[in-house]
Formats: sequence, C-alpha cells, structure tokens
Amino acid sequence: MGDLFWNKIAGVIIGGVLFVMLVMELGHLLVPSHAEYELTAENTSYPVNWEALGSTATAAAEPEDTGPVDFGLLLAAADVSAGERVVRRCAACHSFEQGGGNGVGPAMWDVVGRAKNAIDGFGYSGALPDGDWTYEALYAFLERPSAYAPGTSMSFRGLANQTDRINLIAYLRTLSDNPLPIPDPLPAVVEEVVEEAAGEIAEEIAGEEIAAEEIAEEEQP
Ligand code: HEC
Repeated sequence: MGDLFWNKIAGVIIGGVLFVMLVMELGHLLVPSHAEYELTAENTSYPVNWEALGSTATAAAEPEDTGPVDFGLLLAAADVSAGERVVRRCAACHSFEQGGGNGVGPAMWDVVGRAKNAIDGFGYSGALPDGDWTYEALYAFLERPSAYAPGTSMSFRGLANQTDRINLIAYLRTLSDNPLPIPDPLPAVVEEVVEEAAGEIAEEIAGEEIAAEEIAEEEQP
C-alpha cells in the first residue's frame, strides 16, 4: 500500500466531510435560526383579536390560516392536570365521570373519538356537523362553539387560549377505558432534508470507495 493509496483514502474522507458541511449549510438556509423554530404550545398559533375584526366567520377560518396543528407533538407535551382544572368551566353543564348522566349538555365520559350527537336521550340541537369528535374537531369546536357549529345550544364562549384547549383535550382523552391514541408528530421538514442528505452521503461514499478500490486494483501489476 503506497502513499498514493492513503492519499486517496484521505481524499474520500475529506470529500465526505465537505459534503456534510454543504448539507448543514443548506439546512441553515432552510431554517435561519433554531430558536425561531422551537415549537411550543405558545408559538404554534398566532393570537388574533377576532373581536376587533368584528367577524365570527373569520374566527372559524383561523386553524387553516395557521397551518396544520401538530396534535402528536402538542398532546404528548400537554399538562393533563392543568386540563383537569380547565374542565371546571364545563362542569356546570357536563358530567365527566364514568357513567355520568346528561345535564344541560351531554355526558362527557369517552367523548374523544366518539361520534357527534351520539348520546341517547339527549336533545341535541342538530347544529353539530356529522362525524367523530377527533382531536381536530374538538380543538376547533372548543375554540369557539358558535363559529364551528352555528346555532349550537352549547352557550359557551369558547377557549381562545391554545394551551388551555390542548391541555383540556389531553385530559378528556384520559376519560376512557380505551383512550384514542395520540398521533405521531408531524414530520419536520428539516428532518426530511437531513435524512435524504444522509442517504446521498452514504451513496456518495460507497461510490468513492468503489472508485478507490478500482484504482487500487489497477495499480497492482
Ligand atoms: C352552558 C352550558 C355548557 C357549557 C358551559 C359547556 N357546554 Fe358543552 N355542550 C352544551 C350543550 C347544550 C351541548 C349540546 C350542543 C348541541 O346539541 O348543539 C354541548 C355539547 C358539547 C359537546 C358535543 C358532545 C356530543 O355528544 O356530540 C362537547 C364535546 C362539549 N359540549 C364539550 C364541552 C367542554 C369541553 C366544555 C368546557 C370547556 C363545555 N362543553 C362547556 C352545554 C355546555
């Protein structure tokens, strides 16, 4: 093994390192600063003063405007006992314990994931749209019931604070013998880029190794 062989090995390694640096630089271009993209319950939605805008129709459009809500990320980090405190605001109308009956509003045990308007013997208004109480549906309904289901008999203003809503939903989820699973967090764009780049680097290095082997073979008399 002559000097030339080691030069080539060094070349492969330096080539690989340069490629990693290039990819990292690309990552920085895509994501200007890590701090700006730190996801917390507070910064994933922009506070908008809907009252000032004077329209409840726009309030219904808010979740779309702020992009998809990462329920996997937010629910996994939620404070369930804080959610239990939020639920006191609902207790005047709803029961939350297993086997609890209807009050002014329908019983809440096992509500997460169940069909809307599903409690027998409760006189629903008919304003709640069909479907299940998914995380998305509860999140939108509880933000402003009158905007989500115009004409609903639930006379509750709503929970404007996203953290309150997420904690509450995380608590509601526990009120079941078989809680609805928390979804996987949404894949981060940066992660995808890095994974793709890692694959490319592996290919690149494998390619260079083959080239180095070929050269080494050629050198042999
Ligand atoms: C003033 C009474 C009142 C308060 C306070 C209230 N609700 Fe309701 N809720 C109702 C009524 C009435 C309905 C039935 C709505 C309809 O049929 O349009 C309802 C319906 C619901 C439903 C749909 C249930 C189903 O079976 O489809 C959910 C979920 C819900 N409420 C959650 C809550 C939560 C969580 C809170 C507290 C943050 C809350 N409500 C506060 C009266 C209330």
